[in-house]
Amino acid sequence: MLLEVKDITVHYFKVPAVRNISMSVQEGDIVTLIGSNGAGKTTTLRAISGLKHPSKGEIRFGGKRIDRLAPHRINALGLAMVPEGRRVFPQMTVLENLLMGAFLRKDKNEIQKDLENVVFKHFPRLKERTKQMAGTLSGGEQQMLAMGRALMSAPKLLLLDEPSLGLSPIMCGEIAAIIRDIHREGETVILVEQNARLALALAQHAYVIETGNIVLSGPARKLRENDDVKKAYLGG
Ligand SMILES: Nc1ncnc2c1ncn2[C@@H]1O[C@H](COP(=O)(O)OP(=O)(O)OP(=O)(O)O)[C@@H](O)[C@H]1O
Ligand SMILES: [Mg+2]
Repeated sequence: MLLEVKDITVHYFKVPAVRNISMSVQEGDIVTLIGSNGAGKTTTLRAISGLKHPSKGEIRFGGKRIDRLAPHRINALGLAMVPEGRRVFPQMTVLENLLMGAFLRKDKNEIQKDLENVVFKHFPRLKERTKQMAGTLSGGEQQMLAMGRALMSAPKLLLLDEPSLGLSPIMCGEIAAIIRDIHREGETVILVEQNARLALALAQHAYVIETGNIVLSGPARKLRENDDVKKAYLGG
């Protein structure tokens, strides 16, 4: 397994936000974590990326314990997160934002290659806008930029927190197609979504989280057929 989360609990002050969560991610898969508002999806991703240390349990990435490491150390090991709400640097250009994603890398040639062969290939809109201030991009373009920036660290595992949130149906479709393409080229992805329909269509494996607990997991195609999932997350 590329990533193993074992029995983690994460507290904010004294309140547990997620409890005894376990999940694993096999290399080459898209794994989705679906759940309603406040269920603990972002908290789980923050624990994996090192932004919030769990109070119990362990997290292994490529076999190595990462649950006590700082976020930049985890990033250097090959894990990149696109946070909820994108968080691009609004006063910097598109190109400057993208290069920020590569700041831990040394090889300038490789960085230039990834800019062309990974980012601009999947996001041709960004190539047309390299000099534009990131804050003036549309919501969908900012999502693309945030994803492109994460890909510039050449991650083995990409964490996406609600990439479809607030986007038009057309833009959601575009983002979904890009996630599918990136995956087809070998990227392993954890996709957090409230849009369960979209997430279950993209993923191979899925986890359902409710009030801080994983209540269901399995192959995404099985969860799509599950009556409880249909009722709660797919609109009947
Ligand atoms: N910084 C924080 N301080 C205190 N409590 C927090 C903090 N962040 C999240 N929580 C609480 O932890 C729980 C899980 O929140 P989390 O953001 O992980 O949910 P989520 O599934 O990502 O929800 P959403 O779909 O709204 O993004 C919620 O009860 C939330 O109020
Ligand atoms: Mg969230």
